[in-house]
Amino acid sequence: MIMVGQVVSGSHGEVLVRQKTGETLELGEILVCDSNGRKLLFQVFDLKYGSQVEEKAIEMASGMSLQGFSEQHFLDDDLRNYVLASLKPLAEIIGSDVVTVKALPKFFSSLRRLEAKDLSFLTKPEHALFVGNVRCGSRSLDLPVYLNGREVLPHHVFIPATTGRGKSNLVKVMLYSLLPESYCGILVLDPHNEYYSALSKHSKKEKLVYYSTKPSAGGFSLRINYSSLRPWHFQGVMPFSDPQQEAMHALYNAFKDQWVSKILSDEVDFKKFGINELTYPVLQRRLKLVLNESVFVENGGEALVDDVVSDLFSGKKVIIDTSRLSGESELLVGGLLASSVFSKAKSDDSPNRPVVSIVIEEAPRVLSEKNGSSVFSSIAREGRKFGVGLIAITQLASLIPREVLANLNTKIILGNEMAQEREAIISSAAQDLSSDSKTIASLGKGEALLSSVFSKFAVPLIIPKFEDFSKSDSSNSKKVFV
Ligand SMILES: Nc1ncnc2c1ncn2[C@@H]1O[C@H](COP(=O)(O)OP(=O)(O)OP(=O)(O)O)[C@@H](O)[C@H]1O
Ligand SMILES: [Mg+2]
Repeated sequence: MIMVGQVVSGSHGEVLVRQKTGETLELGEILVCDSNGRKLLFQVFDLKYGSQVEEKAIEMASGMSLQGFSEQHFLDDDLRNYVLASLKPLAEIIGSDVVTVKALPKFFSSLRRLEAKDLSFLTKPEHALFVGNVRCGSRSLDLPVYLNGREVLPHHVFIPATTGRGKSNLVKVMLYSLLPESYCGILVLDPHNEYYSALSKHSKKEKLVYYSTKPSAGGFSLRINYSSLRPWHFQGVMPFSDPQQEAMHALYNAFKDQWVSKILSDEVDFKKFGINELTYPVLQRRLKLVLNESVFVENGGEALVDDVVSDLFSGKKVIIDTSRLSGESELLVGGLLASSVFSKAKSDDSPNRPVVSIVIEEAPRVLSEKNGSSVFSSIAREGRKFGVGLIAITQLASLIPREVLANLNTKIILGNEMAQEREAIISSAAQDLSSDSKTIASLGKGEALLSSVFSKFAVPLIIPKFEDFSKSDSSNSKKVFV
């Protein structure tokens, strides 16, 4: 067993360890301390230099070396100059149990790097959701991490990161491993049309349903009949004034399924419904603006919403390509489908029906509540009671209200340089990540930190590149971890 460091001082929240010469510890790396029969896991959250030589002498010696005077051998002395790592306790492993660390390890204890066998007592859950492999620093332990998808998905998954750090790659990997599973239906609102081509390579692609304004072979046309729309589907899509909302509800009550067709047809004697003559034309104009002509139609598309809902509740994965729609039309399609899923979930309490999760990119658009509260905020707050969750992806976590963020119970945090964003994520995480800000800033492409109310501690992850993952499909691997 190779020791990489030794406890030299510190306190419970910051144990200082001297790094062994020749070994290199990394931020985020997990170390194991076998102390007095206890197995403690620690994580590196800071690194600094230590030296026995006085600072002035070091500066003097450095100056001499820089100016070309004689070699300063004592500066290379590995005994007197070293690296100190600050460690925080992650967990104590007792048999097959994981508990919080309440006592310090023995003074001068040695530490070694984490190995796959340290976590081998953990078993694969029944409804396995693959999220990546355990990472030790920047090294993959080749030990897959699975969560119980049936529990985790209705409690929402949040994926924050700066652009290009691998959010879409992670979602592709998760969806690819979920595709054959019948315990969950997934609705993907895909503004970049990037998921269908990736997932259609799966051997179980019969479980995949694709809608687009320009569907490729095997896809369906994204056409939604006006009669599927309700006034509340417009909530959070764009701001409507109170009189406009009242007008929408009055006209819906009067014309039911026909309310949108009637408004657009200029046939309505709106004054009869107490609607102001200034309000009505504005409402008409705004509806025309948001109702993209190639998607929302007067004839055809009557069954789309019911088809999507029934596919989701039979465990299929439905991808809606919204890449050619304006922001508002896209949100309306999303809001309409999410509302329909949510109301079906509320009325269907059979215990074994699939849970449904909705993937939403640039989540603050619907969770920031800037245009009023949307169905997505309602799902974030109470979806878990009805087995409906979100997989919310964003670069800007700070735009989502704290209360909503706190409800997103599993966070898969990828790299983020922006301190303000890290702060929003850390302050709403399931575990205490207050010392992990530097670690999150230093995460490279595909490196992540999993913080979940369903995991015993925050687990460092490395996510495989989708192209490699889909070739090897490591979701079938025997090695497991929860
Ligand atoms: N785990 C990974 N390993 C190797 N390469 C990766 C990994 N994740 C992502 N990449 C590569 O990084 C690039 C950006 O990834 P991706 O599109 O997933 O980022 P993103 O966070 O979704 O970006 P954006 O904010 O622009 O949507 C892609 O070329 C992808 O192949
Ligand atoms: Mg992306």
